[in-house]
Amino acid sequence: IKKIGVMTSGGDSPGMNAAIRSVVRTCAYYHVDCVGIYRGYEGMIEGDFKEMNARSVKGIINKGGTILKSARSKEFRTAEGRKIAYEKLKEQNIDALVVIGGDGSFTGAMIFNQEFGFPVMGIPGTIDNDIFGTTHTLGYDTALNTVVEVIDKIRDTASSHNRLFFVEVMGRDVGHIALNVGVGAGAEEILIPEENLGLDRLLESLRRSKRSGKSSSIVVVAEGDKIGKNVFELKDYVEENMTEYEVRVSVLGHMQRGGSPSCFDRVLASRMGVKAVESLLEGQTNYMVGLLNDKMALTPLDQAIKGQSKIDKELLRVSDIMTT
Ligand code: F6P
Repeated sequence: IKKIGVMTSGGDSPGMNAAIRSVVRTCAYYHVDCVGIYRGYEGMIEGDFKEMNARSVKGIINKGGTILKSARSKEFRTAEGRKIAYEKLKEQNIDALVVIGGDGSFTGAMIFNQEFGFPVMGIPGTIDNDIFGTTHTLGYDTALNTVVEVIDKIRDTASSHNRLFFVEVMGRDVGHIALNVGVGAGAEEILIPEENLGLDRLLESLRRSKRSGKSSSIVVVAEGDKIGKNVFELKDYVEENMTEYEVRVSVLGHMQRGGSPSCFDRVLASRMGVKAVESLLEGQTNYMVGLLNDKMALTPLDQAIKGQSKIDKELLRVSDIMTT
């Protein structure tokens, strides 16, 4: 392998820049050329490439977002789109790819590898932590810290006004962010897709906490929660069924994806970038680099995206005890 392409794809996450930096510098270390591909698969199809060297990635380890930009490409989902992308890579003599992204990006990489035998290596970059084969995806730790900080602030105003707040957090179909920030910020209830609390038990729990002397409450709601009502409908439902609380809703949204990466994410990104390039140079392909038992580990891409739940059962139990 003489030339590696690196790209970020799908929803961005803090730590992607640190991962790009690591891939580029590891290539430089091993005297392998490195090309940045802009806007994920979209830029690949358009041949939007830029040669990168160790200096092109200076001053970015602490920056949120991604200097290579990101996109979710519809065209790459078609066989024609992938063929054009392959030809563009060949024109530039790029002979392997590091894809930094989530499950959609990995699915694309896997299909590309099957169709053209093109060497690919994934680095999990998403705040959702919904990838199997790593305890942490890039950006997840930063998002947890961002959200906890915001919920602490919401609690200040909630308690001044004796209010109940429903705080909706991201996570797509999984509840890792919600569960962890819920425990970390001392929420009264945490609604996640992996465990359906049900409306009755929610009301019961809120009544119980009111009786126990709490004047304000925070309920963290994962966006993919399965209780059957969105946060605004939950507000109406609780107000109709309980007069004890004045209720407000806060949907945190995309601010959860921004900001300077935490030290944990920067270190993780640096480790993953090195492992990704070294694995490609050793002839490995179609894997994702992950963190397992505090060591870098490779997981086949198809297993990484299979969607097995890795919600922490012990943390669920802790959260149940903390919310009594
Ligand atoms: O996968 C990251 C994520 O931020 C999810 O948490 C969220 O559901 C989704 O992306 C939002 O996507 P978009 O940025 O396209 O609105």
